[in-house]
Amino acid sequence: MFKQEQTFMDFLLEHQERHKRSYHFLILMNSILNAAKRIQFYYSTGALRGDLGLTGSVNIQGEDVLHMDMIANELVKHSLARSGRVVHAVGEEEEEVIVMNEEGGRYFVYYDPMDGSSNVPHNLPIGFLFGVAKRNLEGKEDMHLRAGREYIAAGMFVIPTGTFTIALHNAGCWRFHLDETFNYVKPTNMVLPDSRKTWELSFNSANRGTYALPIQKWIAENERKYAFRYLGALAGDFHRILTNGGLFMYPAIINHPDPKKNRPQGKLRLMYEAAVVSFMCREAGGHAVDEDGTPILDIVPQKPHQRTALYVGSKPLVDEIGKILREK
Ligand code: F6P
Repeated sequence: MFKQEQTFMDFLLEHQERHKRSYHFLILMNSILNAAKRIQFYYSTGALRGDLGLTGSVNIQGEDVLHMDMIANELVKHSLARSGRVVHAVGEEEEEVIVMNEEGGRYFVYYDPMDGSSNVPHNLPIGFLFGVAKRNLEGKEDMHLRAGREYIAAGMFVIPTGTFTIALHNAGCWRFHLDETFNYVKPTNMVLPDSRKTWELSFNSANRGTYALPIQKWIAENERKYAFRYLGALAGDFHRILTNGGLFMYPAIINHPDPKKNRPQGKLRLMYEAAVVSFMCREAGGHAVDEDGTPILDIVPQKPHQRTALYVGSKPLVDEIGKILREK
């Protein structure tokens, strides 16, 4: 007999009922899933339509905009707005905070609709990442940008591979797979493995000479202990770390031969990249810090597109690196 796997929506419905929660979050997640499935479709067929190239414009991050960046951003923005549940959204492609439903919305959504752009022209894996925080429904209205610690959920789709991983506040980190009926099914609880046997290191090795000296020293002393893997798309690289354990890092660049290319603030965006994977990692038993060794989830954003260095993965490794970063 065939087995009917549980869908993500059924899983979430049970979760909400078990915790006596409203259905508003389901409506929000339905809009996020709809957007993800549409991105999946446009990305899978993008090469045929000639949509994997550049638009000729430059975004607020100073990066060349791809057709797919634009398509994915429009899909997510419209889907979130249509849910009616979003107060404000912050999107990678949008300079300003997007005001959606200040009257009746309940959630703040921080999203990167198409992360890992260097993979797009090759149709290789990219990510759609999102973090969700909740409005203060009782007491004083509070519209500030939320730290990762205040997220109620965070997740990522690895597109077009068809995997979706989501962490719910104090309820673990769960992975789903897209089935032939276009449903995300079969929840698997993700817990970072304790055994170092499968652990991996993931970072842009070409940059190693530009990192702080204590980090360069740590790499030299430790890299042979672990396998090394790097895809160049955070969702894909972090996907492997969640399964196998180890460490993903994108350290600050401070020793570049061309000082104009230094990135002392790091490269990744706090709200919709670093905090998203750090939240998932915490729910899977791991940890994440920035260049000062401060937990990523404690950083209160000062601006929507704030950048940070990121060290995320198995707790013993992140603790070891965190100590070095705090002492440097
Ligand atoms: O911030 C975008 C991003 O593409 C991430 O998905 C990825 O981890 C990183 O940048 C890759 O950067 P680089 O090409 O410098 O290795």
